[in-house]
Amino acid sequence: MSDPLGRPDTGISRREFIAATGSAGAVSLAGCAASTGSTETPVPATPTAHSSPDLEKWVEEVPRPGVVEPVGTKDGSPYYEVEMREVEQEIHPDIPPTTVWGYDGQYPGPTIEAQQGEPVYVRWKNKLPDEHLLPVDTTIHSDTIPYDSTGVRVVTHLHGGNVEHTSDGKPKAWFTRDFEHTGPKFEKKDYYYVNDQPPATLWYHDHSLGITRLNVYAGLAGLYLLRNDHEESLSLPSGEYEIPLVLQDRSFNEDGSLFYPTAVSGTDGDSPNPDPSIVPQFFGDTSVVNGKAWPRLSINPRKYRFRFLNGSNCRFYNLKLFEYDESDGTTGTGGPPFTLVGNDGGLLASPVTIEERLEIGTGKRADVVVDFSDYAGQTLLVHNDAAAPYRGPNINTGGQQPLPEVMLIDVASGDVDDPSQVPSTLTDVPKIPVDSVAEERYLPLTTSTDEYGRQLYLLGSDSESSPHRLYDPVTEDPTLNDTEIWSFANLTGMSHPMHLHLVHFQVLGRQPYSEYDPKSEMIDVEALEPPAPEETGWNDVVTANPGEVTHVLVHFGEFEGLFNDQTGWYMWHCHMLEHEDHDMMRPFRVLPSADEEIRERAHHSVD
Ligand code: C2O
Ligand code: CU
Repeated sequence: MSDPLGRPDTGISRREFIAATGSAGAVSLAGCAASTGSTETPVPATPTAHSSPDLEKWVEEVPRPGVVEPVGTKDGSPYYEVEMREVEQEIHPDIPPTTVWGYDGQYPGPTIEAQQGEPVYVRWKNKLPDEHLLPVDTTIHSDTIPYDSTGVRVVTHLHGGNVEHTSDGKPKAWFTRDFEHTGPKFEKKDYYYVNDQPPATLWYHDHSLGITRLNVYAGLAGLYLLRNDHEESLSLPSGEYEIPLVLQDRSFNEDGSLFYPTAVSGTDGDSPNPDPSIVPQFFGDTSVVNGKAWPRLSINPRKYRFRFLNGSNCRFYNLKLFEYDESDGTTGTGGPPFTLVGNDGGLLASPVTIEERLEIGTGKRADVVVDFSDYAGQTLLVHNDAAAPYRGPNINTGGQQPLPEVMLIDVASGDVDDPSQVPSTLTDVPKIPVDSVAEERYLPLTTSTDEYGRQLYLLGSDSESSPHRLYDPVTEDPTLNDTEIWSFANLTGMSHPMHLHLVHFQVLGRQPYSEYDPKSEMIDVEALEPPAPEETGWNDVVTANPGEVTHVLVHFGEFEGLFNDQTGWYMWHCHMLEHEDHDMMRPFRVLPSADEEIRERAHHSVD
């Protein structure tokens, strides 16, 4: 097997190595958990069981999300208005239409097509009904959220957007219908996306404080594709051969409505749980792609570019294509490999062929090309072996609710002309130099319980203090132009997809927690487990597996002509939405650099 990172063949595959170190790391877990005073629950409390109605698989074609057009211009830039509305949408013909919430009345929302260097304005308009579509747990941040005031709170975040903080869509910048009520961090109605970053598969989704999981589950998510001329010149498959695939898991009731759990079995707190109660994590039993349940995709025997987005609340995907016999539902040998051309933050330096499985953590995107030319006339299954909850790439059993079948792909027979290409050089991805690091942040991921005895996942900062809640004072305050290492030490029993707003980082590597000393100033980079092939390039979500410390290199501000300078308040959090809501989210603040501060002061004295 060729090693894309050019490491010597050690005779043990990376995945085997991870599995080995993963379990070794797990041994030390009990110890860490005890020393931080948290309660370790290897099998977390499960939401009460529910089975969706039996839906015939592979009946309908995967729809393509619409594209939204600007309604005019503002300051010379395209100006969009996107309304959030409640609509009925057919998700599967075996059940009545499902009531969902859609941007522009579509689930998933329509794609925003943007060009690098051309800023756009978007007014996200709330036209949702007075009542939430799903049961709301009013104990989450009840001291700051006015649950009794009329209307549904929303705020749209551009995930992966290198944007000013006032347009970032932070949780407390929520607003109700027609901006009637606004949250404490609400600043403006028209968000400004400068689009001054490399072309990438970005996405937008709701981010409201305490109800993000419900708003996104109801349907509030869509893609934002940023392009430029260089990317166009590469001749990657485009037009009808470039297909966005928004992967989500959902559960349904017999009447077609979305099912979302409201109670947890198996907690043992002193006080009874609130009803409805948040659940520690959610996994739907039905695969939904671009808003259709168990769909199939009809294509030609040629190359396609798939823009995968994992838009599930909690589920990870670990994908591989298999030949599939529909008459008896059996899988044959492996299908064509995924060739990864881009990651969260844009194109890779060169394409990476994924020999094994393509891991797509919650919130992540994978920009892939697949060549179907050898599979004319065949049916392929998009297969997922990620356990739920996820615990690393090589652990695919013991999950509570696996979702092995994602969708079918029908390759037409015959021969077609395919002028598209996958060039061996895609773009320049400059390496962030490790020796420029100004600070390493030790960030433990821990478990605790809330006042009702419910499972709580928290984020800490440094080895001294106890983990923080969302509202604790900011502890991460990088200075503009600084490079830092953020070290996520996962002391819980499951993987967490860790996300930073604003920036894109490079994965430095991983090590077992047992071999890591948070007090040491040194990280032996050479000794780290190198990033997985699919983790090269620019990421904004990284999988932090249990028992491991995952190190990422982050540069704040413009870097080698890429990205742009922003200061102010942003968020970092676990992208499992139930975790993010309760309470695995923290602010970070980018401070102006010294010269910037001087400039600002000079400016103020003139005013
Ligand atoms: Cu996609 Cu703060 O999230
Ligand atoms: Cu999490």
